[in-house]
Amino acid sequence: MTSPLIKNIPDDFLKKLTSAKTSTAIKAILESLPVVGDESYTFDPEDPSRGWHEGNLHWFAVGGDRGNAGRIKLAGAPENPIGERTVNSMEGLIELARGRELLENPSASCPASPREAVKRYFKLPPLDELPGWPQLIDGRKPKYHARDIARKIRVRLMMSKQPRQTTIAIEDDGIGQTASTMHSTLLSLGKSDKGDKPYLIGVFGQGGSSAYAASEYSFVLSRRAADLRQSESDSDVGWTIVRNVFLPGRRDHYYAYLAASPDGRVPSVPGIRADELGFLHGTRFCHVNYDFGKIDPSRSLYQTLNHLLFNPVIPYELITGEGRRPDPMWGTAYRLSKLSRSKVALDKRFDPQPIA
Ligand SMILES: Nc1ncnc2c1ncn2[C@@H]1O[C@H](COP(=O)(O)OP(=O)(O)OP(=O)(O)O)[C@@H](O)[C@H]1O
Ligand SMILES: [Mg+2]
Repeated sequence: MTSPLIKNIPDDFLKKLTSAKTSTAIKAILESLPVVGDESYTFDPEDPSRGWHEGNLHWFAVGGDRGNAGRIKLAGAPENPIGERTVNSMEGLIELARGRELLENPSASCPASPREAVKRYFKLPPLDELPGWPQLIDGRKPKYHARDIARKIRVRLMMSKQPRQTTIAIEDDGIGQTASTMHSTLLSLGKSDKGDKPYLIGVFGQGGSSAYAASEYSFVLSRRAADLRQSESDSDVGWTIVRNVFLPGRRDHYYAYLAASPDGRVPSVPGIRADELGFLHGTRFCHVNYDFGKIDPSRSLYQTLNHLLFNPVIPYELITGEGRRPDPMWGTAYRLSKLSRSKVALDKRFDPQPIA
């Protein structure tokens, strides 16, 4: 299914969106788009098509739920949604490898756990075993092998001085979603496509969306990997922007994204525009003017994320500012086990955990 046509989307739109780092930049982008204002269109879950202006963009409630704010605001600490998104990215990489495996052999049995999937598809042991791993992997030192995999997931902090804002992006080179399925996956709520997949982690269909609560705006782009596309239009890039809608005279607010159709589908741009930017496949979430509270994420995110994702199934990169060298993120279990080769610093093992 193709995305509905939206008029007047400039050719350089994707470039502008992907370089936006502040809410001022997002507001300018929104001004340039055919967005129907809150006074002309209010999302009605009973009939989202009421008041719809064909060919324009409308603010559509995340998950099609006018009462989504309560669930989206459940996160607790501001770092938690970043951990959730990073785990989703790991799953995006696993899903890509699983999809490719099934292309080759449609009856291939599925891995019994995320760790088994990572071992099968990436030849990676649990990361806390990596420092003492006795064999080469694909003829290379295990750490170099793992370091290359870490490049496929990037958590990127962007600090702006004027206005003073912090923006955080979580990017992956995973399977990506097609534009026509983004509303029922990336922008859904309480719905997950992972429940019957023992090799994935998420199950509630909720985790990632908690990031909207800490952001003034969020935007997302997703593009399906070429070998897993089913139609020509699957090469397009789906995109949308998310914001908090607080209508005058109402106390209940909700999170909404730009939709191109009353069924909730998002707008898209031709794949060639993404090719130009080197975005071949995967998902990129960007949370603009992210509220980290009192902490300075450029100093503390390294420790917090390593603590939160203590022994992640796949390593990833953290980039704490523009021009800074990416830090590979292995989790604190790795660092402790590395220490324990010379000193006794670790008295626990990290055996596979049963999945309920
Ligand atoms: N990086 C990504 N790449 C591809 N699809 C994604 C990505 N992140 C999220 N999704 C899709 O969006 C859906 C919602 O993600 P979300 O994290 O909210 O829920 P979940 O991972 O299914 O469950 P949980 O709430 O337990 O994390 C996922 O089921 C998946 O289909
Ligand atoms: Mg998740």
